[in-house]
Amino acid sequence: MNTGKEILKKVYTAKSKSELMEAYNNWAEEYDKDLDEFGYKAPAETVEYFVKYVNKGTRIIDVGCGTGLVGELLTARGFGNIDGLDYSENMLEVAKTKNIYKELIHADLSKKLNLSNNLYDALICVGTFTYGHVQKEAFESLAQIVKPGGHIIFTVREGAYDDLCYRDKMVEMEVRKIWELKEMVDAVYFTDDNISCKICVYENKTMSKII
Ligand SMILES: C[S@@+](CC[C@H](N)C(=O)[O-])C[C@H]1O[C@@H](n2cnc3c(N)ncnc32)[C@H](O)[C@@H]1O
Repeated sequence: MNTGKEILKKVYTAKSKSELMEAYNNWAEEYDKDLDEFGYKAPAETVEYFVKYVNKGTRIIDVGCGTGLVGELLTARGFGNIDGLDYSENMLEVAKTKNIYKELIHADLSKKLNLSNNLYDALICVGTFTYGHVQKEAFESLAQIVKPGGHIIFTVREGAYDDLCYRDKMVEMEVRKIWELKEMVDAVYFTDDNISCKICVYENKTMSKII
């Protein structure tokens, strides 16, 4: 039986998407308990920025929603119209039991999303831009599904931020005027091991024409 720490190591060192999804599918039932033990603060920290920028009643998507930790916090803060998207079926199954998402979408963020362009007023994505997970190119998919003027708020884990060159892609999209950086702050990710993350707040600028 894998312990939470062993599974965490597995997801960060996954060599392929199938390896990553196998790890998450096996972890789904124990994920919330384990993450609580590790002092996983990223959802709560990011939601504080989300409430600062996003109005209640707007249409939101939680990308890489996992078991719904972020959705639970948003619901507690009065947000109601939330969809969730994830590629792990078992993580989505756990999220479903919480009855907090309007729709749960099984999709791979590293491919073009089969969703209408400019569909959402705001997007939140916590814990997904990190080692072994989703590459920087997926920022394009985030921008694609959010309306111009809508906010895109996500974390990038310390270490991976530099090692996987996330900032390069963020800047490239700033230069192309796809989105505009409103705020970027350092925040606690895991209290265990003292890991931090960047919380990035973007405003989407361009009506997406990707087809
Ligand atoms: C660390 S968990 C974060 C879950 C949730 N946001 C939270 O903070 O608890 C990362 C999530 O990203 C999802 N994920 C990884 N790669 C993905 C991909 N290519 N497409 C969609 N979801 C992906 C995993 O299935 C997992 O649920």
